[in-house]
Amino acid sequence: MRRGPLRPGDRVQLTDEKRRINTITLKTGGEFHTHKGVLHHDELIGRPEGSVIHNSVGHRYQVLRPLVKDFVLSMPRGATVVYPKDAGQIVQMGDIYPGARVVEAGVGSGALSMSLLRAVGDAGYLHSFERREEFALIARDNVEAVFGGAHPAWRITLGDFQEQVVATEEPGSIDRVVLDMLAPWECVDAVATVLAPGGVWVNYVATVTQMSRVVEAIRATGQFTEPESFETMVRGWHVEGLAVRPDHRMVAHTAFLIVCRRLADGTVGIPGSRRPKSAEFAPEDVSAWTKDHSEDEWTPEALGERGSSDKKLRRAARDAAAISDGAATSVTELGETPEVD
Ligand SMILES: C[S@@+](CC[C@H](N)C(=O)[O-])C[C@H]1O[C@@H](n2cnc3c(N)ncnc32)[C@H](O)[C@@H]1O
Repeated sequence: MRRGPLRPGDRVQLTDEKRRINTITLKTGGEFHTHKGVLHHDELIGRPEGSVIHNSVGHRYQVLRPLVKDFVLSMPRGATVVYPKDAGQIVQMGDIYPGARVVEAGVGSGALSMSLLRAVGDAGYLHSFERREEFALIARDNVEAVFGGAHPAWRITLGDFQEQVVATEEPGSIDRVVLDMLAPWECVDAVATVLAPGGVWVNYVATVTQMSRVVEAIRATGQFTEPESFETMVRGWHVEGLAVRPDHRMVAHTAFLIVCRRLADGTVGIPGSRRPKSAEFAPEDVSAWTKDHSEDEWTPEALGERGSSDKKLRRAARDAAAISDGAATSVTELGETPEVD
């Protein structure tokens, strides 16, 4: 029901002349008030999407149904979300296809789950693992708000991925694995167990130290192809008359992607073609960033992640439930400013 004239119950995005965006849910007899007049919902209901409409004092609003990328950047968050530019890369480079059997961890705020569910479709399968219940609840509400209810292909399991995935999935039964978590190297054996030969494994990590450690851990197993590591930068442009230039601001860094594929059992992989000897770290190099492999050092704070206070999590859970129930449509409507990481 995302096509056709605007109907009561539709979530719509109003963009004013200063490019400010408000999201509302249309109700018969409803009103949208600002200090610059009133917009009657009945003026919108029945009009085509993409209409431009005047409020009671002549202010203009462009009216569109929000896209998933719009929702992701304004939805309640428990954890940092995968940005739309990266979700697109994950779907493409991870070759997530309709009908695929995919496992994912952690769920966080559910942003990536939305893209994965759209890619696998109703006939696919997405099994998401999350160790923190409060995050899983926020993610569930966010995903249900986007799909208008429970998605038939989605299942969430609480607990650590590396333990739960082998307890719930048959060996070699999974087509694609996507991990967005602090320590994906702890999951190498579990991924090798559940991923079918030829299956794709995508990792999303925020720091160079995590990237290095997970790549070395993947190589050390000999069960995967040589990992490919890359990042995606998207730079917006200002295009107006002769003033054509890059935007002054951009999201310069989000995370790195590391992609590899499961080899057949008993096969010896072909190493990277020009692998320099120095890639084999001396013990003192390794200890410089692993602190002699002490797992205690790999904390969210040490990796520069901002923790979520209990207060922030409670607010995100309340907002996500209100949006999912239709009582509100965005955190801006709830009177809060969306956070930009
Ligand atoms: C950055 S967030 C994920 C964000 C999510 N991909 C999104 O787009 O909204 C990382 C999540 O991984 C979870 N996590 C970390 N290690 C995990 C593990 N071993 N098993 C399951 N969940 C884990 C954390 O609790 C956190 O919610």
